[in-house]
Amino acid sequence: MLLPLLSCQKKAGNERPLTALETRGKGVYLSNCIQCHNPDPNLDGSIGPAVAGSSLELIEHRVLTRDYPAGHKPKRTSEVMPDFPQLKDDVPGLHAYLNSFVKN
Ligand code: HEC
Repeated sequence: MLLPLLSCQKKAGNERPLTALETRGKGVYLSNCIQCHNPDPNLDGSIGPAVAGSSLELIEHRVLTRDYPAGHKPKRTSEVMPDFPQLKDDVPGLHAYLNSFVKN
């Protein structure tokens, strides 16, 4: 049975199986980010804000150099998050995973 297209429900989880890149990003996220961010990236974590839907540029800046892309208004003004230069090759996966939740 098909779900009515107009219902536009917001779901916390994914509605489809993750792609290989998203799955890889999920693993990287769960092993590096959830000390502070929520295991469900749609929600605020103990220390870090919700990060679902973050742009590739934002993730790149935050994760690799701790700064923000020009014009981005940080969700929090703390400077708690460390950089993760070793995750350079995993930024596309993180981006894919964090955007696998976004609907519309
Ligand atoms: C030690 C705790 C900690 C860890 C680990 C951490 N973060 Fe963060 N993150 C934060 C905090 C706190 C902020 C808010 C700004 C700050 O304090 O640097 C933040 C901000 C962010 C933002 C910017 C949100 C916005 O729109 O302003 C993104 C994106 C982000 N983190 C992604 C990640 C990813 C991806 C990882 C894993 C590779 C990660 N963080 C690991 C604590 C953490």
